Amino acid sequence: MSCGWRAVWDLTHRDPRPRPGERDCETQTRPRQTPAPGARACTATLSKAIGQVAAVRQKHTLPDLTYDYGALEPHLNAEIMQLHHSKHHATYVNNLNVTEEKYQEALAKGDVTAQVALQPALKFNGGGHINHTIFWTNLSPNGGGEPQGELMAAIKRDFGSFQTMKEKMSAATVAVQGSGWGWLGYDKENGRLRVAACANQDPLQGTTGLIPLLGIDVWEHAYYLQYKNVRPDYVKAIWNVVNWENVGERLQSAKK
Ligand SMILES: [Fe+2]
Repeated sequence: MSCGWRAVWDLTHRDPRPRPGERDCETQTRPRQTPAPGARACTATLSKAIGQVAAVRQKHTLPDLTYDYGALEPHLNAEIMQLHHSKHHATYVNNLNVTEEKYQEALAKGDVTAQVALQPALKFNGGGHINHTIFWTNLSPNGGGEPQGELMAAIKRDFGSFQTMKEKMSAATVAVQGSGWGWLGYDKENGRLRVAACANQDPLQGTTGLIPLLGIDVWEHAYYLQYKNVRPDYVKAIWNVVNWENVGERLQSAKK
């Protein structure tokens, strides 16, 4: 095992107490002011190895759905779900990984111009991954109906009624110009639920500070194959598959 990889292994696995005979790559066994020959090269190897491990650990993956592509029919058909998840979301994940790799290279070089230039791709692909990951869990073949418990109480407190919340969120979602998302979010500062809309793949929390509870994707890839240009019909249908249990769990987490 090379000194860099052994050190990385040690950082995550070994007993922190020094072991006899381990002196070649462990700076704590030597005074700092008198580095051993080759210590600098070893440190560089170690830094590179840590970077590689960090890169591996931070790689994003496409989350599995907990239901079949056809499970949300007739409200969302299988073809839409398959393309949406396995193609569109997968592309955001892949491009996010590529962007992060480039960003790490730019950081390592101290290239601020390159870091700034990568920001739009990070926002777009990172947002796409965050948003879709939430979206799949917001839906369920056993969804629809009305929320229960604290979530319902919060909706009634902040919107007057469940029906009013649905109408406000539907209107905001349908009104998104071009591609974007409608959201029910939690404003942690004042403990209130709020309806919001975001353009493109702008993530709700990173853009507005609201914690996302329920998102409706109104990119055309989310509905066009089934609903064509009639976005309001898609938004109306999606309420039949909303997983209120998941939305309620998100509210509980957001309040912590
Ligand atoms: Fe989408």
